[in-house]
Amino acid sequence: MRQRAGGSIEAAIVLGSGLAQGLRERVDGKTIAYKKLPGAPQAKLAGHPGYVLCGLWSGKRVAVFAGRAHLYQGFAGDEVTYPVRVAAASGAGTIVLTNAAGGLNAQYARGDLMLIADHLNLTGATPLGPEGKRDPFLSLSEVYTHRLRALAQTSCGNLVLHEGVYAGVRGPAYETPAEARALRVLGADAVGMSTVLEAIEARALAMDVLGISLISNLIGADHDVSHSDVLAAARDGAERIAQLVEGVLARLPHKNRDAPDR
Ligand code: HPA
Repeated sequence: MRQRAGGSIEAAIVLGSGLAQGLRERVDGKTIAYKKLPGAPQAKLAGHPGYVLCGLWSGKRVAVFAGRAHLYQGFAGDEVTYPVRVAAASGAGTIVLTNAAGGLNAQYARGDLMLIADHLNLTGATPLGPEGKRDPFLSLSEVYTHRLRALAQTSCGNLVLHEGVYAGVRGPAYETPAEARALRVLGADAVGMSTVLEAIEARALAMDVLGISLISNLIGADHDVSHSDVLAAARDGAERIAQLVEGVLARLPHKNRDAPDR
């Protein structure tokens, strides 16, 4: 990945369902198919291509992961978090996790963006491993880095940018109206099937984390959802997420794990 990017990676970006739209025109780099990455989980799902694009985006050396493995496909917590570990091993000290999510907050509309302020890990899984070679008792008092959220807020121009709590569930079925009500009572503003384990893994590796949800649909008794609706909404929102990521990357200080103070 360093070779394809032309040096140490500064930031990694993981793209959610349908969010790789238009990416190749924005990033000046080279791709590596997941098939060629040793140990990468091989997932196949509509809306999720399987490659990492390494190169320059907005003046920063990045690795952009287009395609995710999910728990509901039968992958384990330490498999869905593979991109986080290879990003860190390639130098990345910052990771941007994006996803398509169902909106629970009554103020949210389809197509809105939400910065993840905190999460509820309701997956029942962990990336830290059952017997674990490392300390599993990780502090999660600030998973989503305050400073990066502030940077995103100053980078968003006139985009609607909420801040809220993301509930990570296993899926793959969408929520019942009763589950949607329960999630609201628990304090969730949006719900999705990814991101929380990646964020935990990133914190275990002392990375700075930014989480961005595209509200692809609303959840509850009045709203029917399908995977193709989610993908269509994500494709419409891909441009706005890309703009936001671009603004954040441009303002990020140059830094990687090999040369932290450069
Ligand atoms: N629920 C769970 N995951 C999702 C949703 C949803 O409504 N939309 C996109 N991912």
